[in-house]
Amino acid sequence: MMKLSPSILSADFSNLGKAVEELERYGADMVHIDVMDGAFVPNISFGIPVIKSIRKCTKLTFDVHLMIEDPARYVEDFALAGADIITIHAEADKHLDRTVNYIKGLGVKAGIAINPATPVESIKHLIPIVDMVLVMSVNPGFGGQKYIQYCNEKIKEVKKISDAYNKSLMIQVDGGVDKNNIKEIVNCGANVIVAGSAVFKNNEIEKNIRGLKEGF
Ligand code: DX5
Ligand code: ZN
Repeated sequence: MMKLSPSILSADFSNLGKAVEELERYGADMVHIDVMDGAFVPNISFGIPVIKSIRKCTKLTFDVHLMIEDPARYVEDFALAGADIITIHAEADKHLDRTVNYIKGLGVKAGIAINPATPVESIKHLIPIVDMVLVMSVNPGFGGQKYIQYCNEKIKEVKKISDAYNKSLMIQVDGGVDKNNIKEIVNCGANVIVAGSAVFKNNEIEKNIRGLKEGF
């Protein structure tokens, strides 16, 4: 079953509470929350106090994507702010195994993200211990970029490894997903789809979510 996790990076930041309420009302399964530190990626978004404040507006799962250097410094704060899933980047942490276990010890689900150029091979031994693998299908930092086609092969690789472990893994794909390519991405093995611009386009959230869900 495919789950949709809309990214609020493309929402109106002056009204984030309303945005998450609308996502819940129109059938989103989770809220994807993109945190950027201006060091790991060339952009700065928002952080812990903002997450804490929108936590009051919805019961949806908070799927927090940390695009920050050395994320272990902050995972506890994100957990306390209301994150349900915390995803860290393989490229941003020298001790991934330790940080994954730390996140799980906080009672939060743990995800690992890999940039387009990072091989699946580099995280394959962690697949049995994580709840989610995030295959980035754009170079992180900005919404509205084009899907990088070779990522299809990486999704298939993750799916193959998780099947070999007989594991029900969340396989998330993030970047450049729209109603025209969602079906092929789900067919590769993705089961959690992130979409930012495709959900908030023209401020027609209801119609856009319906379109994405019909698209596969
Ligand atoms: C990119 C972020 C994505 C982004 C997706 O750095 O991690 O979550 O907001 O946006 P779209 O769907 O517009 O590519
Ligand atoms: Zn993201």
